[in-house]
Amino acid sequence: MPEVIGIGLLGVGTVGSGVVKILRDNASQIAQRVGKRVEIKRILENNESKLRSLGLTEQGTNRYEDLLEDPSIQIIVELLGGIEPARTYLLEALGRGKHVVTANKDVVATYGKELFAAADATKSDFYFEASVGGGIPVIRVLKESLAANQIQAVIGIVNGTTNYILTRMGEEGIEFDAALCAAKDAGYAEADPSADIEGFDAARKIAILASIAFNTRITPNDVFIEGITRITPRDISYAQELGYVIKLLAIAREQDEVEVRVHPALVPENHPLAAVQGVFNAIYVQGNAVGETMFYGQGAGQMATASAVVGDVMEIARNIETGSTGRFSCTCFYTKKLRPWGQFHSKYYIRLVVKDQPGALASIAGVFGNNRVSLGSVIQKRTLNMAGISMAELVLITHDVMEQDIQDALTVIKGLSIVSSVENVIRVEGGEQG
Ligand code: NDP
Ligand code: HSE
Repeated sequence: MPEVIGIGLLGVGTVGSGVVKILRDNASQIAQRVGKRVEIKRILENNESKLRSLGLTEQGTNRYEDLLEDPSIQIIVELLGGIEPARTYLLEALGRGKHVVTANKDVVATYGKELFAAADATKSDFYFEASVGGGIPVIRVLKESLAANQIQAVIGIVNGTTNYILTRMGEEGIEFDAALCAAKDAGYAEADPSADIEGFDAARKIAILASIAFNTRITPNDVFIEGITRITPRDISYAQELGYVIKLLAIAREQDEVEVRVHPALVPENHPLAAVQGVFNAIYVQGNAVGETMFYGQGAGQMATASAVVGDVMEIARNIETGSTGRFSCTCFYTKKLRPWGQFHSKYYIRLVVKDQPGALASIAGVFGNNRVSLGSVIQKRTLNMAGISMAELVLITHDVMEQDIQDALTVIKGLSIVSSVENVIRVEGGEQG
């Protein structure tokens, strides 16, 4: 047995350089805990200046074969991001019997089945704790600590960038674009930040969590997705006046059918998820034996994410030591039915601008009523003068209704002559009927 566990590192960007730092700073403690030294043998990295700044030029290469063919490398740590070439590299590594750690939720969410099959074929380990929740150890919790449960719900804030943006917009009133720039500068955002703000990143993460929680393969295509790009400072401020905060929620539930969705939502300000600020994430898990649990921590960023990556490396190193690799395989034993999005239930916040004239509200209420949508409250926020016509901005909150009914009602409402615009429609979650 070698006295060293050899790592082949793919990418020393934000997370990769954090991994280098932890392996250096905590080297002796890691060696004690694992029983072997953990050393980076080779690094695949495009950008030579990153290698230079870390004093790792000698380990650098731009040929993946140099890592794949190096017998001293037992674990490949993939921190490149994106689907290709990451997916191919991981499959090749597993095919050669090398163990894999990745933080790449794009690849895990979409190609998890294929990667697990490749790992099974060579009895290799395939670990991806950092792919969801940054530094929060939620994957291992679902796979191991809560394995005795039937999981009923996984609900969380799983994207640090959007939570950071919404927090700064809400607390400091700064514009969306400025908040996004700050998230990019802090290293939280994806290489293409539309993945964050359009909800795709959160969808990949909840697909991973739901697959593990419900033992059925959920891919990002199965997730209903809405991002935060339509959320305005006005909606945030009206939500605050009503006693809510706006969060990008990822929701997975199993009740007869499996329902998986990502969208912004008004959350009551006294709800535990409302207190999750900035880049922090929180994931609520409900199991039939354990009841309600909640996991909280930094959901993105260099060191928090690297903490999860190195934790996986150490777990694999222990498995190598004890000859117990390949213990955790794919757990998607079933093919469960997905609830169609039209049958989702929620309350809704609707902001619209209508002509300020008698009967306007009655017409709107009539359309909602005809479509089985019952209104909980209606507030006139302000009057506006638009090209000499007096208009009223209304905020409506519905009772719990079915998605298809609200969409049908809105289609009719948008066509009414008294309606100037439907400015925003945001779900309301986490209340007594949420
Ligand atoms: P970065 O873009 O900062 O780092 C990726 C690095 O890999 C860059 O240095 C890049 O070089 C290099 N690279 C990319 N493709 C290749 C290639 N084909 N060959 C050689 N080098 C390559 O990304 P992050 O560190 O932020 O993210 C890495 C992974 O971790 C992603 O999957 C991400 O989703 C995930 N993640 C990130 C988190 C975060 O907070 N940042 C949190 C959780 C997960 P170049 O500079 O030339 O682009
Ligand atoms: N861009 C991601 C986020 C990184 O902001 O949550 C962590 O996965």
